Amino acid sequence: MTDVQPLRVLVTGAGGQLGQALTALAPQARTTGVHLLPASRRELDICSPAAVARRLDAEPVAAVINTAAYTAVDRAEAEPEAAERSNALGPRLLAEACRERGIRLIQISTDYVFDGTKGMPYAEDDATHPLGVYGCTKLAGERAALGAPDAMVLRTGWVFSEFGHNFLHTMLRLGAEREALAVVDDQLGGPTYAPAIARVLIRMLARLATGAELPGGIYHFGGAPAVTWYGFAQAIFTAAHQQGLLTRVPALTPITSAEYPTAAARPADARLDCRRLQALLGTLDNDWRPGLAAVLEARKPRS
Ligand SMILES: NC(=O)c1ccc[n+]([C@@H]2O[C@H](COP(=O)([O-])OP(=O)(O)OC[C@H]3O[C@@H](n4cnc5c(N)ncnc54)[C@H](OP(=O)(O)O)[C@@H]3O)[C@@H](O)[C@H]2O)c1
Repeated sequence: MTDVQPLRVLVTGAGGQLGQALTALAPQARTTGVHLLPASRRELDICSPAAVARRLDAEPVAAVINTAAYTAVDRAEAEPEAAERSNALGPRLLAEACRERGIRLIQISTDYVFDGTKGMPYAEDDATHPLGVYGCTKLAGERAALGAPDAMVLRTGWVFSEFGHNFLHTMLRLGAEREALAVVDDQLGGPTYAPAIARVLIRMLARLATGAELPGGIYHFGGAPAVTWYGFAQAIFTAAHQQGLLTRVPALTPITSAEYPTAAARPADARLDCRRLQALLGTLDNDWRPGLAAVLEARKPRS
């Protein structure tokens, strides 16, 4: 048997949803030659050039997955500097550090770089036009990251998981508290299970570990089937009720975005066309429904 050198990969923002999903899959990644080295914000602030250099020099890696981000879409409208710092400055500093050391950078980005008016799933080379501060700063981060050699940007959307804050957890809390809820029904997107994103990233990196080609540039990975927030809420409540996590399904009313004003405007149709990634990896595991079932299973009280 030939000795396969493990591919060492730094994961920034490891305390977040995707960072925790990658950390949980680290033992599985090792079996494919990918050795993930997670660093939370406390361990590595991507906005500190000295800290980034220290980390990369002390523990050399072949690739960096940057999951660190400022993700509070509405709060970003009031805190543009904080969003700019983590979403644009951080990726620029990482790109510089990666360029100097010949490291592959994978930057995670968002469907919110689009304005949602296309009326069809977005391809990687479609024109971007973010509607808010979060999307603008993430787009700046993409451009900065692509300055590193063969860098990749993986855009995703509507991330949910067992970890951290997300729409699914909010719905379960509100569903337990309230008899009735109104949820926006004129924004379409693909809920994406963070562990499914993590598995895609590991599959990409496993190619590098075996010396297979991994072209740089932008890739899309969004969950399917596409739903509105209202449709996602319906699925959450039905499944949570079936699994005994809710005693009853709350009455749901579909409303428009205009009836639920938020600080940041969001794209009306943020679906992502994932065919480039599919051509690279083969079948994609992007159906969000098994992810929803897994999160609900994990929330069941252990007897
Ligand atoms: N969540 C979504 O629905 C969604 C949708 C589309 C794309 N994305 C993208 O997917 C990626 C992962 O998102 P996520 O849901 O895992 O986000 P998350 O749960 O908010 O986690 C982001 C993590 O990054 C950390 N962070 C922020 N600034 C940092 C810095 N300067 N240095 C180091 N760490 C820093 C945060 O720490 P603190 O908590 O201490 O700030 C947090 O632990 C991000 O690029 C995001 O833009 C997310």
